Amino acid sequence: MKSLVILISGRGSNMQAIVETARREAWQVRLAGVVAHRGDSAGLAWAAAQGLPTALVDHRDHPERAAFDAHLAEAIRHLAGPDGPDLLALAGFMRVLGSDFVQAHAGRMVNIHPSLLPAFPGLHTHRRALQAGCRFAGATVHGVTAELDHGPIAAQACVPVLPDDDESALAARVLEREHRMYPRVIDWLLRERLVLRDGRYRQLDGESTAF
Ligand code: GAR
Repeated sequence: MKSLVILISGRGSNMQAIVETARREAWQVRLAGVVAHRGDSAGLAWAAAQGLPTALVDHRDHPERAAFDAHLAEAIRHLAGPDGPDLLALAGFMRVLGSDFVQAHAGRMVNIHPSLLPAFPGLHTHRRALQAGCRFAGATVHGVTAELDHGPIAAQACVPVLPDDDESALAARVLEREHRMYPRVIDWLLRERLVLRDGRYRQLDGESTAF
């Protein structure tokens, strides 16, 4: 059975959507655990209350990135086993990971980013989309590479930007789509229905990866 570890920072609503979908659809997957880097993470408390294995790797205990990454990798191996998980999903994980960590999980780590990449990598994506006058906004699931928010695109969700939108209204519209897209993409990846070939993700059943 394939194993999944999810990394979060705070709220963890995408992680919650993944866990709830996995249970509702009876995925044949081992939910090996949830790891957060903040002790006040509401998502981590939710996961623990659900009976999932959890770990906290507090970034304040490891100010150097290399040390933080090493402790994070250790916590992940502790949850998933010495070879690590089959899939590592970053779900609102707001720490930049170093190239050694990325290399060690190459091809089996995905992230969800709240913009239509390659537009707006980095922070404050909805604010920047509004400031630019974008008519569409969205979110992207992509493979993680050493360059921040630049890996191959696995799926995208697109929503209209409405004339009266502020940052929080737009974020809420995008987030609702994230909750539909990310569990489906993770399911496909774990069942090898969405595969990385020659640097691009392909859906082998002809299902749309536009949400
Ligand atoms: C989500 O909108 C996710 O796309 C974004 O943070 C939010 C986390 O919400 N991720 C990033 O900005 C990564 N650069 P959640 O904790 O409720 O899932």
